[in-house]
Amino acid sequence: MLTTRDRWRVYKTGCLMFFLAVVMLTVFQSGTLSSEDQLQIERQLRMETPGEEALQKMAFYRHPKSFWNKQQRRVQASTEEPQVMLNRGAKTWDITSSNCSANLNFTSTDWFAGLEANFQQFLLYRHCRYFPMLLNHPEKCSGDVHLLMVIKSVISQHDRREVIRQTWGKERVINGKKIKTLFLLGTSSVEAERANHQKLLEFEDYIYGDILQWDFMDSFFNLTLKETHFLKWFSTYCGNVRYIFKGDDDVFVSVQNILEYLDSSANVRHLFAGDVLFKARPIRKKENKYYIPQALYNKTYYPPYAGGGGFLMDGLIARKLYLVAETLELYPIDDVFLGMCLEVLQVTPIKHNAFKTFGLVKNKTSKLNKEPCFFKSMIVVHKLLPRDLLAMWRLVSSDLVCAQKVESL
Ligand SMILES: *[C@@H]1O[C@H](CO)[C@@H](O)[C@H](O)[C@H]1NC(C)=O
Ligand SMILES: *[C@@H]1O[C@H](CO)[C@@H](O)[C@H](O)[C@H]1NC(C)=O
Ligand SMILES: *[C@@H]1O[C@H](CO)[C@@H](O)[C@H](O)[C@H]1NC(C)=O
Ligand SMILES: *[C@@H]1O[C@H](CO)[C@@H](O)[C@H](O)[C@H]1NC(C)=O
Ligand SMILES: *[C@@H]1O[C@H](CO)[C@@H](O)[C@H](O)[C@H]1NC(C)=O
Repeated sequence: MLTTRDRWRVYKTGCLMFFLAVVMLTVFQSGTLSSEDQLQIERQLRMETPGEEALQKMAFYRHPKSFWNKQQRRVQASTEEPQVMLNRGAKTWDITSSNCSANLNFTSTDWFAGLEANFQQFLLYRHCRYFPMLLNHPEKCSGDVHLLMVIKSVISQHDRREVIRQTWGKERVINGKKIKTLFLLGTSSVEAERANHQKLLEFEDYIYGDILQWDFMDSFFNLTLKETHFLKWFSTYCGNVRYIFKGDDDVFVSVQNILEYLDSSANVRHLFAGDVLFKARPIRKKENKYYIPQALYNKTYYPPYAGGGGFLMDGLIARKLYLVAETLELYPIDDVFLGMCLEVLQVTPIKHNAFKTFGLVKNKTSKLNKEPCFFKSMIVVHKLLPRDLLAMWRLVSSDLVCAQKVESL
């Protein structure tokens, strides 16, 4: 007969061994990646304008040095900028409770009753602005960081994080410029996954120390929370970070090109650059992932905004965005929400052709999507899953010779 203590010991040993086995599997799995993608963000669906302009303007192959400058659009010079007081108050994450109940103020109205369930849920909890942190790394911003790369991810996509750490997300110092990487996560949106995956995530963070996690559910409409939480986190801990690259975990990024672009933009005030859409219309087709009912947004156009797949901004603008974001109601599409904040700041985002967050070309079978010389000339390209990302990274990092032949494709 086993005593209760013995049974407990056996049980504990069993649990521990199971946990270790799962961890080993996870850590060594990165070579055999599956291409399933939950919560996959098909940004292309949102595009109503064709993306074939990828073919144009290849002249930079002949004038590589002047490339970055040439394509810049000037930020609108505005003599009367809105004054934003930068608050240098809280030095730690000051949210400790996530007790936030549904706002039932408008549940009896007709327009609310007519909404789809996901919009109803969004509206019921829209006033819950901040949640506690589960994993934090304030030390990431210590010292002078030139470029902080922050990547939106979800718990189950550990393979994407793994490949990013091996490729463009590798932390390093280039010409004395320190580059740091962080992943932004919420909690699992699948109840069954929550306990096990959380343990794995904590182990991953124990190994790499590069995960920021907040206690809100990682759902599509909660991506805006990820945006505002990051801005608040950044304002709290990162006084000395010069630039931020923020993007998805399924993109190809050239850090070398980012650094070149930033060098050439050193005297741009309010740098915010990406794949900017001007005059995008809210999508009214219900089947579309980005559908927005009139009740939520009734204007014809969105303000200019950069595709969330990858954009660059300077540290000062991030701090200002945090303060403006606090004054606006949350909007379910995160990159549009940032566009709304920029509009309040009267900053026009810069559109640059090296950001392809809506795909390189719309025709998915086009050869351009596999052409390493294109990737070598880009800053960010959506979308590449781990295996392709690794392969493309190796090609681009090899002694790839890129001539003018790209034009003839
Ligand atoms: C959450 O807040 C409500 C009202 O603000 C309060 O009645 C309740 O006790 C709180 N629950 C917890 C677990 O703190
Ligand atoms: C609901 O309405 C009341 C009264 O108008 C207001 O005081 C309260 O802040 C509202 N609740 C939320 C969560 O907005
Ligand atoms: C966002 O996360 C909060 C906290 O986990 C949750 O209560 C809320 O329902 C989520 N909202 C959406 C739209 O998924
Ligand atoms: C659009 O929405 C705003 C705020 O929700 C409201 O004040 C305005 O009347 C609406 N306009 C139209 C044309 O419905
Ligand atoms: C897409 O590109 C492929 C290869 O370049 C071409 O054969 C095909 O006709 C194109 N499809 C469309 C719809 O343009």
